[in-house]
Amino acid sequence: LDVFVEHDIEEVNSRNFKGTKGSIEGPYYVPGAPQLPARCTLPMRDEDRGHPALVLRGQVTDLDGAGLSGATIELWHADDEGYYSQFAPHLPEWNLRGTIVTDSEGRYEITTIQPAPYQIPTDGPTGKFIEAAGWHPWRPAHLHLRVTSPGKRPIITQLYFAGGDWVDDDVATATKPELLLDPVIDDAGRKVVDYDFALDPATD
Ligand SMILES: [Fe+2]
Repeated sequence: LDVFVEHDIEEVNSRNFKGTKGSIEGPYYVPGAPQLPARCTLPMRDEDRGHPALVLRGQVTDLDGAGLSGATIELWHADDEGYYSQFAPHLPEWNLRGTIVTDSEGRYEITTIQPAPYQIPTDGPTGKFIEAAGWHPWRPAHLHLRVTSPGKRPIITQLYFAGGDWVDDDVATATKPELLLDPVIDDAGRKVVDYDFALDPATD
C-alpha cells in the first residue's frame, strides 16, 4: 500500500502549505547519516567516483526568502546500479547518504553521482498487485531529501531528472513537474543543478 497510496496521502497533507512541495519518503530512509559541511561530497566508493559528478546546490530559506543557517539536508539515493546502502550487503554502511548542514546563508553544495532507476521489490503482495494491474515495477532515477530547520515544517521530497527513463510512468506515481532537475554540464564535466527549499513555519 505504501507504494501505491503514499503519494496521495502526501498530496493531501501538503495542500495547505506555501513552501516547496514534497513527495513520498519511500522505504529506504535511515536516520543518523554522517554529518557533513555545507560544501561536501557524499560518502562513496572508488567505483562510484568513476561516474560523472552530480552537484546539487542551492539555498534553504523561510517563506520570505531569508536563508536558514544550520538547516539540515538529509540526502540518500541509490547508486549507479540502483542499490541503496544498508539494503544491499555489498555496499558500505553510509554509501551515498549524508546529513548536510547549511552555511551562514542557508546555502549548500553537495557533490554526488546520478543514481540509476530501480525496480521496486516484486515479491509478495506488491508484485502480485503490479502483475494483476498490468503495470511495470520501475521507479525513475531520483534523489531523496529530508530538509529540516528548528521551528519549520520539514520537507520530505524526491528529485527526478528531466527526460529520464520512467519519469512519466513512475510505479509509485510520485513525480511532479516542480521536482524535475535538469542539470547543466560544466567545464569540468560535472552535472550541476540548483534547487532551493522554502520551508513553512511549523504548525505544532
Ligand atoms: Fe528511492
